Amino acid sequence: MTAFGNGEERSGRAGGKVILLGEHAVVHGVPALAVGLERGVIARVLAAEARGHELHVAGWGVAVRPSDGTDLGSAFHALLEASGPSISARPRMIHVHVELPPGGGVGCSAAIGVAVARALDPSASIERVMERATAWERIFHGNPSGIDVGAAAVGGCLRFVRGEGVRPLVTARTVHLAVGATGRASSTKMMVERVAALRSEDPARVAGIFDRVGELVDAAVSALGSGDHDALGAAMNENHSLLRELPVSTPELDELVAIARGAGALGAKLTGAGGGGCAVALASDEAHALEMVREWSRAGFDGWTSASAPRQSDAMRLYPAATLP
Ligand code: PMV
Repeated sequence: MTAFGNGEERSGRAGGKVILLGEHAVVHGVPALAVGLERGVIARVLAAEARGHELHVAGWGVAVRPSDGTDLGSAFHALLEASGPSISARPRMIHVHVELPPGGGVGCSAAIGVAVARALDPSASIERVMERATAWERIFHGNPSGIDVGAAAVGGCLRFVRGEGVRPLVTARTVHLAVGATGRASSTKMMVERVAALRSEDPARVAGIFDRVGELVDAAVSALGSGDHDALGAAMNENHSLLRELPVSTPELDELVAIARGAGALGAKLTGAGGGGCAVALASDEAHALEMVREWSRAGFDGWTSASAPRQSDAMRLYPAATLP
């Protein structure tokens, strides 16, 4: 990274994520398994002098200032505060380029937070970046588990436990994914509240569902380690059925899942909060992933592919969860 000044600019990048197993249950302490996406967010801090902090999101036609009354402005303010005076005292103009659908369950807001935190302070550790992006993310999600921020900051395949942190996983083979979009944005906050309401109404049933999700996550972690993608896909399929019981799926998400399975997906499920957003399918290789995207496209849905490279055991350290008040 070059020094800041003399017309130079600095940038930060972060990927989106899909949850392969464990969304919603993860809010209540069950482990979840996520995979970082190749698509993500690039934030550039411009070297030009700025009168005050400004954040521009290219493509959305949005420009905000800290605490300007918008959610984005409040999140920006929270991130700057969490970054400390050496960062927040110096006005910056930040331009953000987003490759992810907002409200799509693919970690768009967390990826923006991580990319901006990195652009503002390229030497910050992963833990500090997670802390700052968590402050940002709280504005949008109220009660986020932290999985989106963890996945954006660490990348690759990972196991996440709320309050504990992110552990990169050993993966024997490349994980080939297809992500299909309903084109309908959904509110994670609302969906999380809906599941919490069902949990209060019928605690025993929801506890049973969450326990089973936990078992599926354990099975999937082993399957990734041994390269058994049939077993991984089977766990994803069962997780989708459990998510339907919560109930956070929609007819469009079920259609995306059915199309992917019809095209031979090893597993397919909704990903993220549900109520709209995206579905994810596990493919046997890149060509297979593209075939599923084509099938979705024939039915009028957008989609794209993403791959996550194999990882050896040297990456297994735990990145602790952010501990903001
Ligand atoms: O923000 P989304 O749609 O990717 O959903 C995140 C996953 C949830 O488990 C539903 C919420 C959370 O904070 O973990």
